Amino acid sequence: MKPEVLLMGPMYAPTIESLESAFTVHHVSKAPDREAFIASVAERITAAATTAFRGMDAATMAKLPKLRLVSHFGVGVDSVDVEAATKRGIKVTNTPDVLTDDVADLTLALLLAVVRRIPQGDRYVREGQWAQKAFPLTDTIQKKALGIIGLGRIGRAIARRAEAFNLRIAYQGPRRKSDVSWRHFDDPVALAREVDFLVAACPGGEATRGIVSRAVLEALGPQGVFVNISRGSCVDERAMIELLQQGKLGGAGLDVYNNEPRIDPAFFALDNVVLQPHVGSATHVTRRAMGQLVVDNLAAHFAGKPLLTPYN
Ligand code: 8YV
Repeated sequence: MKPEVLLMGPMYAPTIESLESAFTVHHVSKAPDREAFIASVAERITAAATTAFRGMDAATMAKLPKLRLVSHFGVGVDSVDVEAATKRGIKVTNTPDVLTDDVADLTLALLLAVVRRIPQGDRYVREGQWAQKAFPLTDTIQKKALGIIGLGRIGRAIARRAEAFNLRIAYQGPRRKSDVSWRHFDDPVALAREVDFLVAACPGGEATRGIVSRAVLEALGPQGVFVNISRGSCVDERAMIELLQQGKLGGAGLDVYNNEPRIDPAFFALDNVVLQPHVGSATHVTRRAMGQLVVDNLAAHFAGKPLLTPYN
């Protein structure tokens, strides 16, 4: 008999295949009656797998009295109630490291796309406008300053890339890091005042909700560019849209939003933003590696071995 796993929602197809070859998978998303389905397997479930989109709330945990592991596909666990899990003795695992480089790559791509107006240039060529007139010159990222909110694994990978592009680095976070020489700020507004470009690379969740406030975006200013590869919850989105509309914020490169995937349509009308559909980690190589961690953490749980990437 294979061990049983509750799968809370859809996941990368090759990962589902791996899960199904190792475990008996109970698909919550395929059940016509979610509550009845969870109740029917609850007594047997010690482990669940989930994603950022589905998460795992305290109410669902309460319905699974034997649950001991939530294996989460993704590094950001803001959609899992980790506090409730810890109280119930449930371990949460995530998928750090394997996605760092792809997410950092996309961050620089977004910054360059906004500043060098890559989507506009592409459209210009396709529409045949080039033959009539040269494309207008743009700003540069060379020798400017980049502020990073959250100097964790991804923040550091962004900083390393940014240095190769001759950007000066500064960062904001709860603690100054002793192993880097980049300037540290406690206050995100003070950081935004000092830099040309600002990236949110902090975790989502309550601790960072709205950390990129209206005041931060105003401090970044009409020439400033904000890039978000973290979570929509980190930014005051209403304020960001207003400031972009009024030209009080120069531009934005966004991979994450509130209410994904049904984002605020006000974004569509803005020429100074480049929009991506939450794809920071969405390469085959990285999604396979994330899926492997989801499977390996579950396998470790069932084998009574230490979890590979425990979060709590
Ligand atoms: C998502 C992400 O997890 O890792 C994260 O925190 O945001 C992404 O990799 C992805 O949408 C899969 O759920």
